[in-house]
Amino acid sequence: MTKFKSQKSVWLGMFILVFAMGMSGCSKKSDTPVETQAVEETAAPKAAKVSKAAEIQPGEDYHSFANPESVVLKHINLDLTVDFDKKVLSGTAELQFDKVDPAADTLVLDTRDLTINSVTAKGQDIAYQLGEPEGHKGAALSITLPEQGDSVVIDYTTSPKASGLQWLTPAQTAGKQHPFLFTQAQATHARSFIPLQDSPKVRITYNATIHTPPALLAVMSAANDPEAKRDGEYTFTMPQAIPSYLIALGVGDLQFKAMGERTGVYAEPSMVESAAAEFADTESMLIATEKRYGPYRWDRYDLLILPPSFPFGGMENPRLSFITPTVIAGDKSLVSLIAHELAHSWSGNTVTNATWRDLWLNEGFTTYLTYRIMEIIYGTERFDQEAVLGYQDLEENVQSLDKNDQILAIDLRGRDPDDVFSNIPYEKGALFLREIEQTIGRENFDAFLLQYFQHFAFQSITTDQFIVYLKQTLLKEYPEKLSIERVNQWVFEPGIPEGAPKPTSNAFDVVDEVRAKWLAGEISAASIDTQSWTVHQWLYFLNNLPNTLSADQMAELDKAFNLTESKNNEIAHSWLMHVVYNWYEPALPRLHRYLVSIGRNKLVKPLYKELAKTDAGKAFGKKAFEEAKPGYHPLTVKANEGFFK
Ligand code: BES
Ligand code: ZN
Repeated sequence: MTKFKSQKSVWLGMFILVFAMGMSGCSKKSDTPVETQAVEETAAPKAAKVSKAAEIQPGEDYHSFANPESVVLKHINLDLTVDFDKKVLSGTAELQFDKVDPAADTLVLDTRDLTINSVTAKGQDIAYQLGEPEGHKGAALSITLPEQGDSVVIDYTTSPKASGLQWLTPAQTAGKQHPFLFTQAQATHARSFIPLQDSPKVRITYNATIHTPPALLAVMSAANDPEAKRDGEYTFTMPQAIPSYLIALGVGDLQFKAMGERTGVYAEPSMVESAAAEFADTESMLIATEKRYGPYRWDRYDLLILPPSFPFGGMENPRLSFITPTVIAGDKSLVSLIAHELAHSWSGNTVTNATWRDLWLNEGFTTYLTYRIMEIIYGTERFDQEAVLGYQDLEENVQSLDKNDQILAIDLRGRDPDDVFSNIPYEKGALFLREIEQTIGRENFDAFLLQYFQHFAFQSITTDQFIVYLKQTLLKEYPEKLSIERVNQWVFEPGIPEGAPKPTSNAFDVVDEVRAKWLAGEISAASIDTQSWTVHQWLYFLNNLPNTLSADQMAELDKAFNLTESKNNEIAHSWLMHVVYNWYEPALPRLHRYLVSIGRNKLVKPLYKELAKTDAGKAFGKKAFEEAKPGYHPLTVKANEGFFK
């Protein structure tokens, strides 16, 4: 199967990589033999052709104050107490560092809204300065390095409004008895609960002791013990070096249920059975992914099911993905989310984007792998349907976003990565990889990916390093099939390149046909045979209706298919978009319930955005938003409050 490159080309790639890292300030050292050979090319000059990109320094983290090129964090020991009354974490972080520059005298960290009580080394106070906050970057914490030793201890307290924490009252949980806390660090929120070098190019190991009320269980993105005695003190180790955005903590009334040998689920007691049943294929997904892309390197793979206010679908915290309960549909129709978070164990957690400009290396590769995993586990028909829906999301983004924001290697300077979230890094990134796959053949591309994950394992890499690697591997091996011009077009230019693969699905042809007939008045909704429709066919049917429908048409659809009461949160979302477009009043109470019970931003933001376009919608949206706000995550609040100012 691995008809793949010679060792020599791997070494050459490695050499260029080390060179590129030196230039970009990455401090990761390689133990691979380095040949003395001229570096013929880097990808950087191409990047310089893009508008404004002349000044972009690949590998420079424009979202961090940290100075890892001089002093770099290696390990953190946390000892934190979870105070639900005050809504704060407090305690200590011992930071162990390496001096990259022997002359360095200052360690610069990122913080946001932290109170620093003291900084000590070997028990002695040492000098530090907490700078003024600078917008979304937070405030720099500059610590004078101790004369001896390679660690400092920071005693600190988080703010109740920490951007990376959500504190839920018992009423906001499924069980209603106990409070719940969870963290969400990606992209730049780890700094709101730990003072550290909050840049994905810095990788650290960590240990933690977490003190909680004794009835609750704490879990982390680390080795978790399902048998841990509930006594309010929990210890964790994460022996693999990870970027800060993957540090994660959840605390609540949690139960564990195994799903397979290496997989299990943590959830509130009332959810644990339904979650384990919905995600029962996780173990098979894990095995299938390993078979193609190399060993799962993180020991166990468990899921933590969060309350519905979790602002994302999922978050790939290593060993323990955080998952929204809104995908528990009862029929496994939305489990591509699990395939996605699992796939990040390779693309993202093993090979990581060096900066947020390179996010597409995480999300594009992961989206590509997700489709592949779904095809293996659920078959080509489902794969085709999901691929078409993903492509349509991409097309919509390409129509609505500024040109700069359609570029994979996006220019994020001066912007908060949270504000630039779109399908581009996901679906355009995946389509780029699918084009390579189709050009060189699936087996060959799988062999490439296997090597790629091995080659860059536990490193954080830039887009430019990826392109250098491509030049040394696939572009050399398939010179008649692949070209650097095409690669640059995909990575540095807006839009979908002409000639890109366009997914199709036979199962959608019939949907197109009946939709057209119904819209033309040739058939009634009730006469459409939807008995065997998949959730994806429903989504395709709804997403491709015209925005303007008559009140009669809306009522007819609702009567025939009971869409307002759909229990599938994705179908309900698509339908509710039409409810807003057409101000279909019978469904407004359901829209209100939806908005106040779900905090997943991808589901609520498009609804709020559309509501804000009319006076009546705005009043309705504002009311729902104000009611929901106390239960929303800070990120969901931030993403939507602007609509109702
Ligand atoms: N890592 C992302 C979530 C993320 C990305 C948080 C960037 C902050 C900044 C996660 O893996 C993800 O992509 N979630 C998606 C899943 C979907 C594409 C299947 C989500 O939450 O919708
Ligand atoms: Zn992702």
